[in-house]
Amino acid sequence: MAVSIKAIKGTKDTLPNESYKIQYIEQAALSTAQTYGFHEMRTPVFEYTELFDRSVGETTDVVQKEMYTFNDKGERSITLRPEGTAGAVRAFLEHGLFNEPLPQKICYLTSCYRYEKPQAGRLREFHQFGIECFGSASPLADSEVIALAKSYFDFLGIEELALEINSIGCPECRKKYSEALKAYFESRKGELCETCLSRLDRNPMRILDCKSPVCSEIAEGAPVVLDFICDDCREHFEKLKTYLEALGIEYTVNPRIVRGLDYYTRTVFEFVSKAEKTKGLVLCGGGRYDGLVEELGGASTPACGLAIGLERLLIVMEESGVSFPEAPACNLSIVTAGEKAILEALRISADLRAQGYNINIDTFGRSIKAQMKYANKIGSEYTVVLGDNELESGVAKLKCMADGTETEVSLADFDTEFERTVINKTVADFGDFDINALLGAQ
Ligand code: HAM
Repeated sequence: MAVSIKAIKGTKDTLPNESYKIQYIEQAALSTAQTYGFHEMRTPVFEYTELFDRSVGETTDVVQKEMYTFNDKGERSITLRPEGTAGAVRAFLEHGLFNEPLPQKICYLTSCYRYEKPQAGRLREFHQFGIECFGSASPLADSEVIALAKSYFDFLGIEELALEINSIGCPECRKKYSEALKAYFESRKGELCETCLSRLDRNPMRILDCKSPVCSEIAEGAPVVLDFICDDCREHFEKLKTYLEALGIEYTVNPRIVRGLDYYTRTVFEFVSKAEKTKGLVLCGGGRYDGLVEELGGASTPACGLAIGLERLLIVMEESGVSFPEAPACNLSIVTAGEKAILEALRISADLRAQGYNINIDTFGRSIKAQMKYANKIGSEYTVVLGDNELESGVAKLKCMADGTETEVSLADFDTEFERTVINKTVADFGDFDINALLGAQ
């Protein structure tokens, strides 16, 4: 009996009728990144597990519960990347990018893998657009990173978003904060889940992002980190606020944001949807990680960055009715009758495709009627029928499917005459204007 194999839970297929949307947001991401001087880096989908243990942190939910980890045939422990920062830092070090002019500004579009409970906006394979800026400790770097995300959201037309920022201080501030947290959680020890009990001594801050309802409720009453940060960290945070204000970027301080990854220091932030149907969905998370490059074996190098979940971005855009450019149309269907016509269609289609036109030719040997029906269904902008008469006279009728008008075109000059017709129609759609007058009749 045939077994029907389905996609793995928490994964998503992108079908041809929606792939243009993802292409659009990815292209826009790379173009926006370029306007801020960020250039793309690509790293492998899997890395040694140790990379994530040491960067994301051994007591985080991501490492403790969510990583896809396996031994390869050489008995090495390998993990599918749960996020993009660790691999970017590894590559920064491995390829000596610290010797290049600083700051090094990189961006990436990557798939990520987390074994989480799938739900709307939470997948086991998802995609991120991320950026990382290596080398600058200044809050100006933080504001550039945040401004880039804001420019991207603005370009896409996503308006109902709140930027929430916080500072979780440096390792010195964190020591004091961890002690206060430990004292607080000790008093409710009996109610914590098993994972959080083990975090109590090692990393009490991680209890704050536990997803168990009881732990989250207890965490609501915990001390907030902003009350424990040192003067330098406070000044850094205040300057960031000044820069955001100068850029006209609205924000609120949310002292409860700590982020679920261990590498952060000082600035942390999130962009959260405010739209009715997607309220509370976190589209983007990021912050500063001044200790990570050193932790992974490099010289002390301050850094900051962010990542945006692309599936969540699409959900918010679709739910808020943000418009997408239309899927690229088929420009011309060449309808053929007979073997000679097919040979002519092959010649014409090769010429037009080389000029960038999207051309459809029949590969079934179907009737003219059936070919016209297919051309209609796929939304061809133009059709042309090639049969014995057209081949004999060397002239065919190019039909505009939108208004039914027909233009005679010579087969010998098909590509130029097709282009002229398309331009004339486009210009006519904008007003009464003859492109020939502008180009000079040929
Ligand atoms: P993150 O907050 O773990 O940060 O992920 C960033 C974004 O990825 C989230 O805001 C969300 O939009 C998306 N995301 C996360 N998990 C899922 C999931 N299971 N399904 C769908 N989307 C998801 C990071 O990954 C950091 N590396 C960001 C960063 C870069 N910080 C500094 N540089």
